[in-house]
Amino acid sequence: MDTPAAGGIVQAKGVTKRFGAHAAVDAVDFTLHENEVAGIIGSNGAGKTTFFNLITGYHRPDEGAILHKGVDITRMTPQQRVARGIMRTFQLTSTFDNLSVTDNLVLAFFRAYRESSLLDLLLNTCKRYRGEPRIDAALETFDLQEVRGRQARNLSLGEKRRLEIAMAVLVEPEVLLLDEPLAGLAESEIRGVLEVLEKHVGRRTILIVEHKISHVREFLQRLTVMHEGRIIASGSYEECLRHPEVRRSYWQIDIAAEDGHAA
Ligand SMILES: Nc1ncnc2c1ncn2[C@@H]1O[C@H](COP(=O)(O)OP(=O)(O)O)[C@@H](O)[C@H]1O
Ligand SMILES: [Mg+2]
Repeated sequence: MDTPAAGGIVQAKGVTKRFGAHAAVDAVDFTLHENEVAGIIGSNGAGKTTFFNLITGYHRPDEGAILHKGVDITRMTPQQRVARGIMRTFQLTSTFDNLSVTDNLVLAFFRAYRESSLLDLLLNTCKRYRGEPRIDAALETFDLQEVRGRQARNLSLGEKRRLEIAMAVLVEPEVLLLDEPLAGLAESEIRGVLEVLEKHVGRRTILIVEHKISHVREFLQRLTVMHEGRIIASGSYEECLRHPEVRRSYWQIDIAAEDGHAA
C-alpha cells in the first residue's frame, strides 16, 4: 500500500553514485512535490544525468534511497518505475529512426503497458493501433499531424524532440522527467517544445534538467542548482542566483552571459 506523499511524490535521500573513486552524485537530498514544475541546472559534468538515472532506475545508488509516494523504489527496475508512473526522456533523442512518427507513438504506448516483444509489436501491433484515438490526440497535441507518416530519421531535431516527449506523455505518467529537452534546438523549435510542455503544467509533476536556464526560467516553479555532484542551492530563480556558492561556481558566468550582463 502506498502511503500519502507527505514527503513529496519523489524523494531522494542521501543518494550517492560513484564511478570508480569519483562521486558523480554525492549525498543528494531532493524532493519533488506533486504537480510542480521543477528544474535542475548545472554545468556539464555536474551530475544531472546521473541523478536522473538514479531516479529512473538506470543506476543503483551506492548509498541512499529513492522513494516514490513513500515507497522505497531504490531496487526497482526502470520498467517497474514506469509502471508506477515515472517516465523519462533521454538527453539524446531515443526514437526509432526507421519507423514513422505514428508507429513510434504506438510502440511507446504499448511498450509501457505490455510485456510483448518488440518484434511482435513491430509485426502486429503497429498496424492495428495506428488509428487509436489516443495516438491521434498525441499527434495533434504535439503538432505532429503533418509528419505522422514520415520516418523519424527524416524529422527535424525539433520535431524529433516533440515526438520523444509525446512518446513519454502518451503513457500518462504522473511524473515526467526530461533530460535537456531543449538541447541542440533552434530558437523556433524551443518555443514549439515549451508550448507542448506548458499544456501539462499543473496536471503532472515535471522535472527538467537543463544546462542553460534562460529558456525554462519562466516555466519553472522551483530551481535546484547542482555542482560537482552536490546540490548547492534550491529555491526561486532569484534565490539561486543570489546564493554565494552559485555565485562562486563558474555557473554564474553562464547565467550572466545568458542575461546579457557581466558576472
Ligand atoms: N557511466 C559512467 N561511467 C563513468 N563516469 C561517468 C558515467 N556517467 C557519468 N560519469 C561521470 O560523472 C560525472 C557526472 O556526469 P553527468 O551525470 O553526465 O553530468 P551532467 O548530466 O550534469 O552533465 C561526470 O564527471 C561524468 O564524466
Ligand atoms: Mg547530462
